[in-house]
Amino acid sequence: MDPTALEPAADFRADQLQSSLADSGFTSVTVLDQVDSTNRWLAELAPEAGGAELSAVVTGFQTAGKGRLDRQWFTPPGVALTFSVACSPHTAAGAPWPVEYVPWLTLIMAHSVTHVVRNLVGVPAVIKWPNDVLVDSRKVCGVLASLVSPPDGSAPSAVVGAGLNVSQRHLPVPTATSLLLEAGDAEAVPGRQALLTEILREFARCYHRVSVDPGAELGPGGDVRALLESEVDTLGRRVALHLPGSTVPEQAVAEGLGTSGELLVRGHDGAARALSAGDVVHVRPTPGEPRTAAEQRAIHAIRDVTAGDRA
Ligand code: BTN
Repeated sequence: MDPTALEPAADFRADQLQSSLADSGFTSVTVLDQVDSTNRWLAELAPEAGGAELSAVVTGFQTAGKGRLDRQWFTPPGVALTFSVACSPHTAAGAPWPVEYVPWLTLIMAHSVTHVVRNLVGVPAVIKWPNDVLVDSRKVCGVLASLVSPPDGSAPSAVVGAGLNVSQRHLPVPTATSLLLEAGDAEAVPGRQALLTEILREFARCYHRVSVDPGAELGPGGDVRALLESEVDTLGRRVALHLPGSTVPEQAVAEGLGTSGELLVRGHDGAARALSAGDVVHVRPTPGEPRTAAEQRAIHAIRDVTAGDRA
């Protein structure tokens, strides 16, 4: 019998996670059989941790997982990778990251998952701005970040959580998928502990790289910015914007990412705007339909920006 049927986190070993992640800067990795929400659990501890870097928690089952826009996030016991990381973003010189760069943590986590899904599982994952990882247009992972402000007014900590569908054979909606369904073979899907180890390693690598000089890495021409942009499949696409408070989707072309990772779009009327909230749904051109001039321009602009060395 699958041990996770009785203990949803039976396949995780906290001691092994701690030792294999210590050189990536993780000071603690906690394994919980079940919890309401790893984001909520870590957010409560983050102020007490007093800026200790980095800490993570993983669980086999969330009873009240949180999604974006106050939605619930539910995955059955034992079959998804649900975890959170707490960090206190400071530069190497000890100053807090400039506040405009903190929202990039969501994309750094989405990148870390994308990177591992591509390299360890061999399926072509991409990022859908701002927080989804898709394979073949279906969602395999969602990311949720929140800021935790200490009562003493010191710099906020961040909690960044991700839920990755690993071995579900059936998903509740046709727009979702799992690594097992995409790989088509259980042998091709690494265990949750291996996936988590590599995702946290990649997150720490990017996080520490940005911490050396956030403006240089995430500003125009920055290497980490270019790496993230190269994976954001939304860029260069026509998008239907489902904005809070509006029932009619707006059509636009996604042209780039702003200073804080917001999506820069251009509407049919030629007006540019920056989006930092709301749902963005990709609109694919119908087969045979040529790209519009605005799409062509956006794609060229993005290629120019991302054509340098990768981080
Ligand atoms: C979304 O797509 O809406 C974001 C989903 C984020 C889910 C993860 S699972 C681990 C962490 N803990 C939570 O309560 N939520 C995030």
